[in-house]
This record gives sequence, structure tokens and C-alpha cells, in this order.
Amino acid sequence: MESKNISQESLAEEIKKLKEEKGAVIMAHYYQRDEVKEVADFIGDSLALARKAAETDARIIVMCGVHFMGETAKILCPDRKVIIPDANAGCSLADSCDPVEFEKFTSAHPDHTVISYVNTSAAVKALTDIVVTSGNARKIVEALPADEKIIFGPDHNLGEYINSVTGRSMLLWNGACHVHDRFSLEAIVEMKKAHPGAKVLVHPECRRPLQIIADKVGSTAALLDFARTDDAKEYIVVTESGILFDMRKACPEKTFLAAPAQDAECQCNECDYMRMITLKKLRDALRDEKPEITVDAEVAAKALRPIERMLAMS
Ligand code: 13P
Ligand code: SF4
Repeated sequence: MESKNISQESLAEEIKKLKEEKGAVIMAHYYQRDEVKEVADFIGDSLALARKAAETDARIIVMCGVHFMGETAKILCPDRKVIIPDANAGCSLADSCDPVEFEKFTSAHPDHTVISYVNTSAAVKALTDIVVTSGNARKIVEALPADEKIIFGPDHNLGEYINSVTGRSMLLWNGACHVHDRFSLEAIVEMKKAHPGAKVLVHPECRRPLQIIADKVGSTAALLDFARTDDAKEYIVVTESGILFDMRKACPEKTFLAAPAQDAECQCNECDYMRMITLKKLRDALRDEKPEITVDAEVAAKALRPIERMLAMS
């Protein structure tokens, strides 16, 4: 986290002024840096950000999140300027689904309904029948007839979770998030030994064994809600550690422990893409009204239908 000093405070002031002058709304995902969330007008999970974008009448939407979130906002609001403070803020999960390869996969199963996680490029959404987020995937799959054949992509772990709770046998694309896919079961079991009363909160992008040992599996917003309403005093949080800021703010009397991700390549439980957005980049983006998110009109028209279907079904 960037340390809170005078210059951060003056950046925050500048951001507030610029935002008002320009009629902009600042939206931030829970995984953003704490200081970015502090200046945001709205903080949410992927579903809430999409819903909010669909509703806003602001002239400019500043998306403090990753690129696919900005694209989703732009597809929903083509007449608004959508800016993202760092255009390189991508997503390893979205990158794990190349549209050309995905089209080959879906074309090989033409009798299947194609469901894509919101963590995809606009090009993949354009090949999709219904978009889902981790906050509504179960509800949307359950609303489809029991015998409907379904392709689900790109997150394999989320797909396995939805198959397990709905009893479906969706065909799964083999994609993953480099943060969530690397949480270690062994490390969580060790933490649980040291904190036997702690409940384990797991994002469904984590591997199946972690989903199985969880007290609660859910989207970032669902985990936060659970922590708010549950009666335990301590929680082990198995998702990107940015959410701990929101959990501690919502429940100052409870203890939240960040789960470590441990393997040879990655020791970290932070999404380096989400953390690319800093207060300075946010100030610059508001001042210069760039980098702007653009989506090819034909792709956007095709991608809009499955996003609207999601919003109507959730
Ligand atoms: P939510 O849908 O819970 O916001 O999480 C998706 C995610 O991983 C954002 O990167
Ligand atoms: Fe993508 Fe994973 Fe980062 Fe979420 S946490 S934006 S899924 S790379």
C-alpha cells in the first residue's frame, strides 16, 4: 500500500476537484489500493460495477479496476467516456481465453449455450450467450433448463464450483487467475490449526480443495456480506488481500487474516494488475481524460446482448 502522506492527501484533493469539474464518477473494485478506494464514489465487485455503470448518468466513468471492467462499462454506456488510469491493467484470467481458440471450442459444440465469466475480453463476450460474474453465476445457471448443454469459460475453478453446487456437467474452458489459482491448501490448513475458531472465506476462482474446506465460497461482495452478518470473530480470507481493507472497515471488531499464496513462482496474494492503479495515475487520467477505453462497434454490439441478459437474469 502507498504510504499516506501529504502528497497523497493533496492528490486526493485534486482528484475530488477534477471529478466535480468534469462530471466524472470514480468506480473502484475491492482489489484496488486502499487510497484509491478512499477517493472512489462507488466500490464494488464485478457485478456491482457493471450494474452501476449501466445506471450512471456521469459524463465520464473512471474505472479503477482492470481492462475488462472498463470494456464492460463502455459496452453498456457507449456514449460515455470511459477511462482507466493504467491501460496496462489487464487480467491473467481474461488472457487465458484467446477469442480465436475459444471460437474453435464453441464451434465444436454448436448445441451448447455459451456462458462466459465477466473476466473476458469484449471479443470473447461477443462469442457468448450469457455473461456471468462470480456473484450471479449459480443463479443464472440454475435458471436454465436442467437438460441445457452448457459451455463455461474461462475460469476452470469457478466452473467446477458451479458444476458442484448445481449438479450440472458444464464443459469447462481451462483458464485460471494467477492470484486465486495459487493459494495453497497446506498454508490454509496450517493457519486454521493456529486459529481454530477462524472461518475460512474463499473466492470461487480458487482451486476445488479450497472451495471444499471453506465456510463460505462467494464473490468479493458475498464474502464481505458474510463477514458482516456472521457471528465468528476471526476469518481467514482466501482471495486478493485488497478486500481486507473493506472487511476491517465494515467490521472493526473482527480479525481478518490474509491467506498467503505460496508456490515456487509466486509468494503473493495481491493482483499486480489491480495494483497498477495509483492515486497519481488516477489524477493524471482525470486531468487528461485518458487513457480512454474503446471497443470496436461491431464487437460491442455483439458483446452487449450477453451482458444485458446477465443483468436481466440477476
Ligand atoms: P468479483 O466478481 O468477486 O468481483 O471478482 C472477480 C475478480 O477476480 C476481479 O478480478
Ligand atoms: Fe484478473 Fe485475477 Fe487480477 Fe481478478 S485477481 S483481475 S481475475 S488477474
